[in-house]
Amino acid sequence: MAKYRIRGARPLYGEIEISGAKNAAVAIIPAAIMSGGVCRIENIPQISDVTMFLDILDELGADIKTVNRHTMDIDCSGIKIPRATFDAMRKIRASYYLLGALLGRFGEAEVAMPGGCNFGGVRPIDQHLKGFRAMGAEIRIVNNGVIKAKAPGGRLKGADIYLDVVSVGATINLMLAGAMADGTTVIENVAKEPHIVDLANFLNSIGADIRGAGTNVIKIRGKEKLGGGFYSIIPDQIEAGTYLAAVAGTGGEVLIKNVIPKHLDCITGKLEDMGVEIENREDSVLVRRTGKIRKTRLKTLPYPGFPTDMQPQLATVLCLADGTSTVTEGVWENRYRYMDELVKMGASVQVDGRIAIIEGVPKLIGAPVQAHDLRAGAAMVIAGLCAHGVTEISGIEYIERGYEDIVEKLRNVGADIEYVYDAPKISRSARNIG
Ligand code: EPZ
Repeated sequence: MAKYRIRGARPLYGEIEISGAKNAAVAIIPAAIMSGGVCRIENIPQISDVTMFLDILDELGADIKTVNRHTMDIDCSGIKIPRATFDAMRKIRASYYLLGALLGRFGEAEVAMPGGCNFGGVRPIDQHLKGFRAMGAEIRIVNNGVIKAKAPGGRLKGADIYLDVVSVGATINLMLAGAMADGTTVIENVAKEPHIVDLANFLNSIGADIRGAGTNVIKIRGKEKLGGGFYSIIPDQIEAGTYLAAVAGTGGEVLIKNVIPKHLDCITGKLEDMGVEIENREDSVLVRRTGKIRKTRLKTLPYPGFPTDMQPQLATVLCLADGTSTVTEGVWENRYRYMDELVKMGASVQVDGRIAIIEGVPKLIGAPVQAHDLRAGAAMVIAGLCAHGVTEISGIEYIERGYEDIVEKLRNVGADIEYVYDAPKISRSARNIG
């Protein structure tokens, strides 16, 4: 198994180019199922979650052509059977978007329950199912973890839906379902993340009528047909935030390119509180840290609050702050598993439910650590870049689900990070042969 080996405690200098947004890509790619033509999609990140999704579409019968490393032509007109129960479905969380897309286009769907990052807690989808039911779908969960959904009459009906919790996934799934439903769907108390707006923009570009994405209420007038189109995915807010946090931790000065600075306000504002200098430019952000990291209070909330997907990375930087910081996780129940790994590196942390108290220490010390999930893995990379000595990170397959070329991007700004491979174990008898 490959690992990352990092020799840390070096400041970072240079430029990093941000890739397309993972969480927008994994919504827009299944949305292409609803198109009656070819969708040319640009700025697709080269990460394993996207590759797995493209494999799923391929198995469903889509015709996918690679135009270049980040651009694909996706033609889903050949999909005839709305059934996606392949093993790959269980590997990625966002595979549940197939339910909204297939149900929207065919009025029925059979989809395996999603997998994805496991923070150690429950990841329910009751709000998705409540919305589909309000639109007339009959839903059954059969015993091998497959969801069967069917709209009597072959088409969903527009409905008024109020989400009891602000959910990114439910907002996206119901937007997909509503885009081709019969009549108007109004969804209230929706998520407002940049990738929600990006999905609405994509669907509108192929003929949907969706208004209000980015506010609390989304109104969708269902269309019988959607066409093909051309679309470019927004830059990844969390990838950009992760590199901003890395420079905050190591010190140095890096220009983070190909970003929408407005999407980063919720992250850069907090970094400024911590004594990090931020300079917003048109489509880039300069980050510089020369002084001490200041302690802070951090609470994660749905957008435009501070993103939960940046909590592990910022908490790691706070391990080196000048004083005691408090982190409150306001979105997920259990997202602190990675703290045990930081403690192995000398961090001083106490976790009580959703609150973590972090007492800053003068330095972290390299150690062998484990990436338990995608963002926890990114936090381990930041910890390794800050730490004195050598850090080896295993479980890097989680990190590569969401970060394109992370090793190369960090090496370009002066990090000492490399892949290492454990020698395969050879049995005693095999060694004795010959
Ligand atoms: C999306 O997950 C992201 N994943 C997650 O990013 C991110 O952490 C999360 O939104 C919150 O921002 C993708 O976009 C693929 P939710 P999602 O539904 O949609 C509760 C990453 O690292 N809830 O917004 O699954 C739920 O338990 C990933 O890139 C219900 O109660 O998250 C949680 O407490 C990991 N019932 C809260 O809502 C539901 O039906 C937010 O979940 C749905 C959710």
